[in-house]
Amino acid sequence: MSLAIITGASGGIGSEFARQLAGLGICDEFWFVARNEERMQKLADELGVKAKIIGADLTSMEGINKVRAALEEEKPKVSFLINASGFGNFGAFDEISEDEVIKMIDLNAKALVLLTHMTIPYMELGGRIIQLGSGSCFTPLPYFNIYSSSKVFVLHYTKSLNYELKKYGIRATCFCPGWVETEFLGKSTANGNTHPKSMKPLLKCEDVVRGCIKASIKGKAMYVTNWYTKLQHLLFKLVPDCILTKLWIGMLEGERKNEKL
Ligand SMILES: NC(=O)c1ccc[n+]([C@@H]2O[C@H](COP(=O)([O-])OP(=O)(O)OC[C@H]3O[C@@H](n4cnc5c(N)ncnc54)[C@H](OP(=O)(O)O)[C@@H]3O)[C@@H](O)[C@H]2O)c1
Repeated sequence: MSLAIITGASGGIGSEFARQLAGLGICDEFWFVARNEERMQKLADELGVKAKIIGADLTSMEGINKVRAALEEEKPKVSFLINASGFGNFGAFDEISEDEVIKMIDLNAKALVLLTHMTIPYMELGGRIIQLGSGSCFTPLPYFNIYSSSKVFVLHYTKSLNYELKKYGIRATCFCPGWVETEFLGKSTANGNTHPKSMKPLLKCEDVVRGCIKASIKGKAMYVTNWYTKLQHLLFKLVPDCILTKLWIGMLEGERKNEKL
């Protein structure tokens, strides 16, 4: 048995990973994890694959422990773990409630780490872990502060883990896309707060996921999507943060575009 565990399988990037892995025929079973069970069941039906639907809110230990219980009960051989559950809210530090801040950190960082650590013992030679980072982890981003910081954590954690896992023949890849066409941006700006007006080019889920699967199979520690995001990545290494922050603020809509830095 070759199992793929995919969190965030009810949404854009997570469900696209399921589609492409199913299409490649390299996994014969899937576990889909997220809150919306109906959407995950629909995906399983669409793909016609053997799937376990785990309805879980991964911001809670109760949700995380549902996956742990399934692993302990079934003791599967896991080929892929894809941590795609995540969300981000735009807004200043005092515009996002403490509850939302903690949930962002818990989902994007804590749940990702716990799910990874509990799954590794069930992986064998050739096992692959894909963690959703983001292009937003390349530089500090005011008004996307908590989200981008949580993704910096994911990047450093995954690169280090990739090194530690090498001796077991398992590899971990941090996937850093630019803006991808999913429900993510709509949810991120739902509170009406400042958001980037320059969100183009929006990448297609199919394209970025295809590239990431290839990078993961090759054992890359990091996968940055298209030329535009790669160029950003390079520039962010060369240009000082204070200049990048000014450029970012210039991209934000609303009153913040007139902010004096
Ligand atoms: N789209 C982009 O531009 C972009 C760019 C860079 C990185 N990313 C990252 O890519 C990942 C996937 O995002 P997406 O673009 O596919 O967005 P999406 O369409 O909004 O999907 C987000 C997924 O996360 C799940 N999720 C949210 N809250 C959850 C919770 N409390 N417990 C369990 N699962 C939860 C959602 O499922 P339920 O609501 O059913 O729980 C959904 O399946 C995220 O980590 C995001 O940070 C996205």
